[in-house]
Amino acid sequence: MGGFLSNLKPENSLEVLNASCGPVRGNIYRHDEKIINGYLGIPYAMALAKELRFTKPVAAEKWKEPRDCYKYGPGCPQSGDKISTLLPPGHRKFSEEHCLSLNVFTPSWKSEDFENGYPVMVYFHGGGFEIGFSSNFDDYSLSGTLPLKEVIVVTVNYRVGPLGFFTTCDDVALGNYGLWDMTLSLHWVQKHIKSFGGDPNCVTVFGSSAGAIGASYLALSPHSNKLFHRYMSMSGAAWWDTAIRPKKLEAEICERFAKHHGYSGNDSESLLSWYKDQPVIKFLETTGVETKASGMGHFTPVFDGDFFPKPFDQLQKMAPKLDVLVTVNEYEGLGFLGLFPNRTSDLVVIASVFGPDVVKNPEEVQRKVLDFYMKDVDQKDATAVDKRLIEFISDSYFNFPALETVRHATRAGNNAYLASFDYYNMDAKDPYADWFPFRAANHNSELKYMLGEGMGKFEPIEEEFKVMDMVQRLVTNFAKYGNPNGKPSEPQTWQKFSFDKPFSYYKIDYPKSEMKDNFQNGRLKIYDEINASGEKNRGILYSIQKEKEEKFYYLWTWTYWVRRGIPGPIGWPFIGVFLNSLDENFPGPLQVMEWTKKYGKIFGFTEGLMKTLVISDPDLVQEVFVKQYDNFYGRKRNPIQGNSEKEKRTNLFSAQGFRWKRLRTISSPTFSNNSLRKINSTVEDCALELMRHIEEQTSEGQQIDMLTFYQEFTLDVIGRIAMGQTDSQMFKNPMFPIIKKLFQGSYSRLFLIGGVLPPFLVQIVRQILLKTMKMGSFRKINEITMNAVNSRVKQREEDEKNGIEPGEPQDFIDLFLDAKAGDIEHFGEDNEDFTKSTSYTNRQLTTEEIVGQCTVFLIAGFDTTALSLSYSTYLLATHPEIQRKLQEEIDRECPDPEITFDQLSKLKYLECVMKETLRLYPLGTFANSRKCMRTTKLGNVEVEAGTMVQVDTWTLQKDQNIWGDDAEEFRPERWESGDEHFFQKGGYIPFGLGPRQCIGMRLAYMEEKMLLAHILRKYTFETGPKTEIPLKLVGAATTQPASVWMHLTPRN
Ligand code: HEM
Repeated sequence: MGGFLSNLKPENSLEVLNASCGPVRGNIYRHDEKIINGYLGIPYAMALAKELRFTKPVAAEKWKEPRDCYKYGPGCPQSGDKISTLLPPGHRKFSEEHCLSLNVFTPSWKSEDFENGYPVMVYFHGGGFEIGFSSNFDDYSLSGTLPLKEVIVVTVNYRVGPLGFFTTCDDVALGNYGLWDMTLSLHWVQKHIKSFGGDPNCVTVFGSSAGAIGASYLALSPHSNKLFHRYMSMSGAAWWDTAIRPKKLEAEICERFAKHHGYSGNDSESLLSWYKDQPVIKFLETTGVETKASGMGHFTPVFDGDFFPKPFDQLQKMAPKLDVLVTVNEYEGLGFLGLFPNRTSDLVVIASVFGPDVVKNPEEVQRKVLDFYMKDVDQKDATAVDKRLIEFISDSYFNFPALETVRHATRAGNNAYLASFDYYNMDAKDPYADWFPFRAANHNSELKYMLGEGMGKFEPIEEEFKVMDMVQRLVTNFAKYGNPNGKPSEPQTWQKFSFDKPFSYYKIDYPKSEMKDNFQNGRLKIYDEINASGEKNRGILYSIQKEKEEKFYYLWTWTYWVRRGIPGPIGWPFIGVFLNSLDENFPGPLQVMEWTKKYGKIFGFTEGLMKTLVISDPDLVQEVFVKQYDNFYGRKRNPIQGNSEKEKRTNLFSAQGFRWKRLRTISSPTFSNNSLRKINSTVEDCALELMRHIEEQTSEGQQIDMLTFYQEFTLDVIGRIAMGQTDSQMFKNPMFPIIKKLFQGSYSRLFLIGGVLPPFLVQIVRQILLKTMKMGSFRKINEITMNAVNSRVKQREEDEKNGIEPGEPQDFIDLFLDAKAGDIEHFGEDNEDFTKSTSYTNRQLTTEEIVGQCTVFLIAGFDTTALSLSYSTYLLATHPEIQRKLQEEIDRECPDPEITFDQLSKLKYLECVMKETLRLYPLGTFANSRKCMRTTKLGNVEVEAGTMVQVDTWTLQKDQNIWGDDAEEFRPERWESGDEHFFQKGGYIPFGLGPRQCIGMRLAYMEEKMLLAHILRKYTFETGPKTEIPLKLVGAATTQPASVWMHLTPRN
């Protein structure tokens, strides 16, 4: 109680106000010529007797005799041992029976602006749901703040600690009593505030810390969100993972507390009786009771299925329109690091937020988060380390929930304002500052400027009076007009949150406040990444009646695009369009092309819980793959493929975020011209080996299926450059049938099923597949690679022992073993995230990761390159004049028996042929997809985090608007100028686009050029009776020709 006017005493007025709740007499607070009336300690609920403990509050009855409302009512009994240190002596008046009271501060004069009464601001105090009470705010000081700006302020006591939040996780004690208290106080406001001069149709709920969280819970719950019109959350918000718990978890904590104090029963009723029997003083004794849960408090709100009848995101969508204003202070976490005085490591601080109740793989997430915060910090610099931990606490507890709140609200069509309060007066007295590592605006710093009372004594200096005026003006404007800038005629300096500028916020400072674009310096991306990774336990947001919800969630997702007004095929309940991907004779990409014809250049479909947006507009493609790469850096993945973030053997194709950046940095040099030059002779060896087989099998003029021949070739190349294979194994490679199976329709369909299974089944099916079914093929490939990598490592160790100098790298395995991210030149990504990533601590690949990369090169490079060769062959055979022109180029540029790397680069027309082939027959179209990691806008469409975006490459690359009237024709000449500005950016993506573009592109070109050059020097492709014209295209997720039968006619 050190409010700036706490030296003053109010006059007790004898005048009776005949309020609708009952007659009251209140205080007079004089501020120059203005008078604020204050009515303190008005009961809004019936007295709580013992049997009413742990029940919802019941409205107080109207009284008849005038009640003296001169003094604050007693606070609700507190919880936790912390309280004794935080409460100033003389302010420890508590009463369970009479604590549910509120206080009204109202201007005494009649408003000229508000005919229907003053706007009302209802304040809920903070205290982590365990402590706090409204009398903590000196009444004289409070009366000298917001009410002077023509609003009514109501402050409220609500139950805290076990009295407010005890739960048995069943109907015996549902919990959340404190939230029901808040709700009842809002009913009181609706019913009675008119008698105090207020307008019940203009009510703003606001709160700080736990009160802020409470305010945003009230905005979500259908029991409370029609009782007010706007809300302000200051330093706390609903989307704070550890502020609310799944009810089972909280019930366990409640039981643990009771057992710690001697309770020995094991059923809900006896536990309830035990709690009912305890004197309230017992609830202070939390020391020694482990919560075994993330977050700081023992007794918290829960997902009870009652106050919160649905998951938060659904409640948000159903809620009425409410304006929202959210603020944080610059260093919210400054005072909280002190809660970890004896921490053994920095991980402890991170673990307090990301425990097993919050994320599925706590250790990995914690490590990832720690790496993120500490990435460029010298660990010996304790001050710098502490600062990062403070940032972590600020972000995880306050900043990210604040951002999430404005995002959710904006998405639901509400006006939302976000600010950071950065003002801190170094000259001001701040009794707590000495406890903190440094001085800056911290948790609750803004409160004293808003309500005249903060932590400790508040003796404002001159400048601070100006800050008070500014802050109070902003918040009362919001309460009056739903806009902190005031009426629309006022300068609109504080802009609404918008996804167009997803990190913009208002920096409140003195003398200047202004809009900024980089909320928390972009640090909050890591939280989006964790959310999007699927790491969060669904219990965090969806803990109620899980199965029922799951079913509902499926149906809810199924109608997702319909509800969003986005066209697209709807498919079937639960599974969406999944069945369409099962027809081997109508491959997925062709199906998508048909849908584009029907629904246009942007449409959506669902497969189980997966939501996909399909685009075929080049501008949007450019937007997703390049301009907004930061928002779309993940790839569409089927859940059955596992979680790339947690697999030891994750690979470049699947990984995302930092792990991807690291892998990409280390892998890139492997595909540089320099490295490719070194493997030129291996690739040529493979080409010559294939030539021998061709010669053998066409000696009597037979047709051969070039698809199989090309697959043998690409497998041989990749086997020799990435899998430790020492010599050619063409047509006898034991891996061939294994890898072919992987690409067969039935196999890839197994993958697709993963998309529609409920999450818990995905894991089970994945395990079964991994162990027993064809996925075993995948394991075999891994085993082969693992053996190769291990024996290379051993070899190197032995060489070292024997003093043998390491020679030139022989293949990718050597290159990987030698690679270190730190040694690697940046390779062209101009993405900010990427640039930062080079400082990632672990600069070398683990053996597991090397295996992962080599295996993915096999899978990504084997079929694609063979198919591209097959399509080229078909197109050449059906366009003999183009084939002839190509042969002339090859004869001219490659006259010697051997073909060198430099000669390959001179085969320009061949390059045009390959480009044109890939335009007409795009491959890997499923790879041309992204996962939205952060909600953003694509054109006019808002894309929510977690949505997949897939390009319809087939439509895009044959679009007449991009390619002209001859778009359907095979015309390599269109590429001949070498200047690719002739087509629109984003219009051609056979190898993808942007930072995640195919890493193997140059290798693929090299292989194709080498082989086609050798073949076409000797033979001419000619169609025959077995050749399918047009090609029959088959496949599930991919498209490929069923066969490419050819005559290879020897040239003269
Ligand atoms: C004609 C042959 C090939 C085609 C058409 C092709 C196509 C693609 C496409 C469309 C992507 C997705 C790009 C994006 O997301 O922006 C991709 C990614 C990838 N490709 Fe290829 N690819 C081919 C050959 C290869 C080869 C030979 C290798 C390796 C030996 C390879 C390795 C990869 C890898 C590792 C990725 C993931 C890159 C990342 O996410 O950072 N590809 N490829």
